[in-house]
Amino acid sequence: MEKEKALVIFGSPRNNGYTKKMLNLFMNELKEIYDFSIINAYDIAIKPCYGCDFCEKNGVCRFSDFNKIKMLLDETDMLVIASPVYNMGFPAPLKAIFDRMQVYYNKPLQREKDYYSEFRDAVLLLTCGRADNGVSEILSKSLNYILKCIDIKIKYKTVWEKTDLNPNDSGIFLKIKMVSKSIMEIKT
Ligand SMILES: Cc1cc2nc3c(=O)[nH]c(=O)nc-3n(C[C@H](O)[C@H](O)[C@H](O)COP(=O)(O)O)c2cc1C
Repeated sequence: MEKEKALVIFGSPRNNGYTKKMLNLFMNELKEIYDFSIINAYDIAIKPCYGCDFCEKNGVCRFSDFNKIKMLLDETDMLVIASPVYNMGFPAPLKAIFDRMQVYYNKPLQREKDYYSEFRDAVLLLTCGRADNGVSEILSKSLNYILKCIDIKIKYKTVWEKTDLNPNDSGIFLKIKMVSKSIMEIKT
């Protein structure tokens, strides 16, 4: 069976932190069915959206630094967002990527490839230092608001909470196994 494409947008500045550990577990579980491409939001550090409406008039952004992400987004079968929670939101470089999706909001029908008739699946992997307390729901809602412009919807969400209080919580292995199993059952 040919592998499907999965695009990971990684939002932590720490390459050995909790978010990376959770992402590695997830990718390891699904490596037989997905080819993963990873974009590191901090490495790529794209400009924020300037709200200049250039994309509304021209169908493309006036800055070219989003082009690679756009190409990968257009082609992916599944999107994975892996991020820590920062002040009840996403870290700034990741938020910049989401805001640059404004190009799709303004011109949803002018994507290079418009062949997705159904929503593609997104997976949200979050870590937070304290208890979740509904934060992951807020972030899912805000993310779905953006992603619907590109026919993507969060289907699976896993939260590794209380990392500041309980850094060695092994329960995350089980959570990742369960979500990966659900994905595998649909795909195989
Ligand atoms: C700037 C900043 C803001 C944070 N805001 C929150 C927050 O609002 N809620 C929370 O539970 N944890 C918060 N944290 C803690 C991180 O979400 C937590 O430590 C996370 O597991 C770090 O992931 P990492 O190891 O991948 O960097 C914050 C951490 C930083 C550095």
